[in-house]
Amino acid sequence: MTERRVRVLVTGGGGILGTALARTRPRDVELVALRHADLDVTDAAAVGAALDRQRPDWVIHGAAWTDVDACEQDPARALAINGGGTANVAAAARTRGVGCVCVSTDYVFAGSATTPYAEDAPVAPHSSYGRSKRAGEEAALRELAAGGRILVVRTQWVFGAGGKNFVDTIARAAAERPALKVVADQVGCPTWSHHLALALHELLAAGAEPGIWHVSADGQASWHEFAVAIVAALGLATPVAPCTSAEFPRPAPRPAYGVLSKRKLAARLGHGLPHWREGLFGYLAERAKAGAAEDPQSPVPPRGNPT
Ligand SMILES: NC(=O)c1ccc[n+]([C@@H]2O[C@H](COP(=O)([O-])OP(=O)(O)OC[C@H]3O[C@@H](n4cnc5c(N)ncnc54)[C@H](OP(=O)(O)O)[C@@H]3O)[C@@H](O)[C@H]2O)c1
Repeated sequence: MTERRVRVLVTGGGGILGTALARTRPRDVELVALRHADLDVTDAAAVGAALDRQRPDWVIHGAAWTDVDACEQDPARALAINGGGTANVAAAARTRGVGCVCVSTDYVFAGSATTPYAEDAPVAPHSSYGRSKRAGEEAALRELAAGGRILVVRTQWVFGAGGKNFVDTIARAAAERPALKVVADQVGCPTWSHHLALALHELLAAGAEPGIWHVSADGQASWHEFAVAIVAALGLATPVAPCTSAEFPRPAPRPAYGVLSKRKLAARLGHGLPHWREGLFGYLAERAKAGAAEDPQSPVPPRGNPT
């Protein structure tokens, strides 16, 4: 008799995380990735109908409005998608006995800490995006309290194929401009979507307990340190100068320190995620391969040692 495969439904399937979840699907998992055009999570009836149609064991809810500055300018829309959308998905999952992973962010924290944020550290979002994601967390935690199999997984500084990301932005800018300036007073854990997706699949396979989990890369860096590493790995000589956030005012404030503590994850899985430098090299290698497939004359392979 063949064993039934675990069915996972992904919302926001066209985004960075959705792309990585599909690429890292374990053999015993059947994965259906619904893109925004397939399912709008703000439509509660459509969310329920999608779950009834697909009958998943788990939903990984990756759909979100992630444009932090745009969220600042339209808090109602941010709340509707990131808060209301998550409430719809978590409620639909709980009432059908389906497990649900709601993906959240370090932006729920104030960013004034000096040591890594634990899962139970007090939240105090300072941006519209952060508040809307916290509203989503609260809705998910209400469904957990009502008996749902709900995991709230906070991650941060995600880069990878499938969407706009910092590595691509710096790679392009470093190739086009004589010099770059990058903020050095914001610190976090740059996380390759591939490593994040592997960890999410592993958490589900391990039967991780409902509740809040922090999942991001090992190590920490400022955006400036990260940019310097990107430029060096690409073998470019473009100088990257540090600057302050005040020199580059943006509509939405960012946490100065967003490092998440992953002690709980490491204790549960027996390991954490690889270091962010390893993630960077993995992504650059993937990019070079994709570039080589598109244009064999112009691949830019990463250089240096990831460890
Ligand atoms: N990227 C990061 O640095 C980061 C950091 C911390 C946490 N997170 C969280 O991680 C999760 C995955 O984000 P990501 O990095 O994969 O971002 P992403 O690349 O922007 O993907 C999000 C996806 O959600 C879709 N979406 C937007 N509104 C939707 C709606 N109403 N209904 C259904 N789908 C909708 C988007 O589609 P369209 O583009 O077509 O609208 C997009 O494909 C999100 O919960 C995000 O908040 C991300």
